[in-house]
Amino acid sequence: MTGGVVTSLTPVRGFGVDIGGSGIKGCVVDLDKGELVGERVRIPTPQPALPEPVYGVVADIVGQFGWQGRIGVTYPGVMKSGVAFTAANMDPSWIATDMAAGLEAVIPGTVQTLNDADAAGLAEMAYGAGKGQRGLVLMLTFGTGIGSALFIDGQLVPNAELGHIEVDGEDGELRASAAAREREGLSYPEWALRVDRYLDTLERGLWPDLIIVGGGVSKKAHKWVPLLTTRTPVVPAVLQNDAGIVGAALAAEHRIGQ
Ligand code: BGC
Repeated sequence: MTGGVVTSLTPVRGFGVDIGGSGIKGCVVDLDKGELVGERVRIPTPQPALPEPVYGVVADIVGQFGWQGRIGVTYPGVMKSGVAFTAANMDPSWIATDMAAGLEAVIPGTVQTLNDADAAGLAEMAYGAGKGQRGLVLMLTFGTGIGSALFIDGQLVPNAELGHIEVDGEDGELRASAAAREREGLSYPEWALRVDRYLDTLERGLWPDLIIVGGGVSKKAHKWVPLLTTRTPVVPAVLQNDAGIVGAALAAEHRIGQ
């Protein structure tokens, strides 16, 4: 010990897996830095994305790293006590499936499950754009759907499903997700109008202090974030593609999530 500073010689490591509609990604995570250790492994999500084949892919990824011990695994829907409650962009057979039990049957060790956006949000709050932010912080992930994670003074309020608020009579994510932009061939300014309308609807019911926008489109944040007219400051996510993996590993370490 020098100058009263204690440094840990053994870095704290965890393992996170991020299950998405098109890919399942996993890696060892350095939890001191919030970074991946080496290259992540990505395997395309089996189609149809049924529970058993997905468990097989997760087990394969964990096995490739020879990881032993707790792992965190995300799910792109409402997740409570290991059980999936919704499946907006997954096969409907996931609903009422005990994912935690299914994974524990094929992977030794314990599994911490949580919603994918909640995981991304945890990572941003710990290491990224939300670091040290108090008050009400909303993380939104724009991908196939719109994921949301809500934090009050740094504490996660799990399973906020704000991607599905009704905007002009339609499910919010159907009009304003990144997938909607691609599907409809919208330019960034055209899509920004949709996102703005979505956020305007959201801001009628919530008064966040900060909105963090993540997902692949956050790499191009300069093309659309400055066009937004929200009263809440909007900042791009810092961790981008790896946020789900990092957040899953963090959730496993601190037993956060449901
Ligand atoms: C789901 C959310 C999920 C988001 C991003 C939405 O359709 O309802 O639970 O976080 O997609 O995957």
